[in-house]
This record gives sequence, structure tokens and C-alpha cells, in this order.
Amino acid sequence: MGQHGYNSRPVDDGGVAQGTHVRFSTTFAARGQTLTTTCEGDILNGELRLKMAGGGRGPAEIVAKKGADDAGLPKRIDPPALRNVKYNGLAKSPPMGWNSWNHFKGQIDDAGVRGIADAMVSSGMKDAGYQFVNIDDTWESGRDASGNITTNKRFPDMKALADYVHNKGLKIGLYSSPDPKTCAGYEGSYGHEMQGAKQYAAWGFDYLKYDWWSASAVYQDADMHAVYQKMGDALLASGRAIVFSLCQYGRANVQEWGSTVDCNLDGNLWRTTGDISDNWRSMSTIGFGQNDLATWAAPGHWNDPDMLEIGNGGITAVEYRTHMSLWSMLAAPLLAGNDIRSMNDDTKEILTNREAIAVDQDQAGHQGHRVSQSGETETWIRELADGGVAVALFNKGDPAVAIFGRIGI
Ligand code: GLA
Repeated sequence: MGQHGYNSRPVDDGGVAQGTHVRFSTTFAARGQTLTTTCEGDILNGELRLKMAGGGRGPAEIVAKKGADDAGLPKRIDPPALRNVKYNGLAKSPPMGWNSWNHFKGQIDDAGVRGIADAMVSSGMKDAGYQFVNIDDTWESGRDASGNITTNKRFPDMKALADYVHNKGLKIGLYSSPDPKTCAGYEGSYGHEMQGAKQYAAWGFDYLKYDWWSASAVYQDADMHAVYQKMGDALLASGRAIVFSLCQYGRANVQEWGSTVDCNLDGNLWRTTGDISDNWRSMSTIGFGQNDLATWAAPGHWNDPDMLEIGNGGITAVEYRTHMSLWSMLAAPLLAGNDIRSMNDDTKEILTNREAIAVDQDQAGHQGHRVSQSGETETWIRELADGGVAVALFNKGDPAVAIFGRIGI
């Protein structure tokens, strides 16, 4: 069994062990993509050091110490029994805003977030409909004597930061995980869900991204729905309107429990894939792989193919236009993931494209779907509230081509 942040996964090539040297790979299927992680390394002085490559992330090294396997794992807290949770009435159209992770990772701080809020207004993004300024992982520190989560020195005063963002006419979001540690190894919410939700509400947060990541260390996949319900309940009980974003990479058929209209589940949006990267393969595999999920999207409940990479520099402006058009056809949340304080005109023009945004935000909330495909071309349609239809013609290849096809309307 290979342990990975997403889950425990079977070793699918049998694995090889020669003396102290080991090599194995694991495969993870998420909607629209199959990711393989290869691990190779040695056991030396009671330590297993593995170099890990693939799986949609950059190379990484993991170190496991002998005897440390289950040490430090907290006692399991059973999640509550499943029941209907009231729809929180939020996200009638796909959330629009910005999130710190894609560009800044752990390099985000209070001044950076304020600068982003300023730029959201001065760049015209706010006028174009962008609303949330979302702080992702790495803001956390530990817990105080009463068990309240504390911030690290990069975020000295969350309430003051939230006030600053609100004074710009914007909303602010935060990140946490159901497990003891977040994906980046910071303090998670385990055993403190209710207290955390109250704290976020007291600070003035309007959005929570809740990332499963290593929760498999304490929970099974079968617990996932209940674990998310627990935080959904806590957010509702906080008395503040907080958009709830589920981040568990499309596992456990989340769209089925994430989209039940009368019983909110718990979430307003749910990730459908592993993490996006700033390259054509990642973006296009994820984006064009969402077709099967179209029926699950509806006002208040959205498929989330992950945040935008537009403006991060890994692909061309034409390819970023495809990214924006595709996400708009998908009724996807539009969460910019670049440094909007210093974006160039191409990036600004793509992110603020009024026609694409109008399609994305269309109030009927019908997610688009593919109607034809030939070679490197795809045609997608999206039915709109006014009876019209948005049509997107995609050419994924280099040479110019004519696209023919019936759109079936
Ligand atoms: C996971 C999520 C990302 C981001 C990081 C933060 O990988 O999928 O979107 O939130 O965690 O550590």
C-alpha cells in the first residue's frame, strides 16, 4: 500500500525491493485524468527516503522513520450520522474571486492580500464580477489554551484584514482541512470544527475551502460525506453566510452527495479533480474531462474543476483564452490564481472578458456539454436562461482548422 496525501493507494506495479532499495508506483484516477506517482529510494539507518515523481505535482522527497507509522495519529472521532442539511442559500451563480494558492503557495501574507484586494478594484475585476479574496493554506499556526486556532506571523490580525477587504466592497475567504494537519502541514480543524467555524465567522470570513488531503489518515472514504456535513453544519450554526467549498478531488462520487438540492449536503461547490498546474496538459485534461459531470451543476451547487492559472505564465495567451472560455462553458467557479497586482493587459483582458463571464454566471446554471469532437477539435454548447445557447468551438491543435458539426439544437 502506498500512502499519499490523497489516500492510501495500492501499489499497482507489484513494486520492487532489492536489498535496501525499493521502487513502486501507484495510480490515481480522478475525473478526466489518470495520474501515476513513482516512488524510489532506500532504507538507511531506520529511515526510508523516497523520491516521488509524477501524480500531477513536482518531484518531492518523503521520509518515513521506523516505528513512527501510527505514532501521533489522534484518536478517531466518529463523524455524525448523515442527515439532511439545509441549503445555505449562497452561490446562486458560480463564485468569482481570487485565491492565493496557484501563484503564491506559502508566500502569502497580510500585505499581499490587501494588495490583491486593492488590485481587484483598480484593475476592474471587481466591476467585472469578481468578489472573493481567498486565503489558501499556510495562514495557520497552532491553538491557544482554549483550543482556538491561531494565525502565524504573516497574518497578525485576521479581523482587521477581513475588515479591510470588506471596506473595498469585496468578500474574504479562508482554507482549512478536516484532518489534524492541512496539505501543507499546518494546523487543521480535526476535533475543532464548531469552534473553527465560530472563529471564522467572528473574524468576518465569507467563504471556506475545506481540503480533505490527508484526512485519510483518520477517516475512511466512506466517512467523507459525514465529515463534510459536520463542517457544513458548523458553518450554518455560526450564523454567518459562509460559502462552503469542498476540496476532495472528485473522490467518492462527490457530485452525487454534493448536489442534492433540498438537503444542501454541505457544499456550494466541490472539486472534481486533483490540483491544476500551469501547463496545457493539466488545464486541458481537466477542462475537457468535465463533460460527464454537467448534470450535477445547478444554482447553489457547482462542479469545481479547480482555480484558474490565467496569467501565471506557463502557457500562451491564446491557451489562457481557451482556459477562460472552457471554464465559463463549464459554469465553473472563476477564482483567479495569478498575481493580479502586476498582471499584463492580455491577462486582464482575458479575466475580465464580459461575454465569457456572462456565460459563466448565466442564472439558469446549466453546465455546458460537448456536442461533437473530431481530431483536435471539440464543440460545446451551453443552454442559457434567455433561451439562447452559447457555442464554443475549440481547436486544441496548432494548425488552423475549419470546424464543422451539428450542434443539435
Ligand atoms: C491541496 C489543494 C490545493 C491547495 C493545497 C494547499 O493540494 O488541492 O488547491 O489548497 O492543498 O496546501
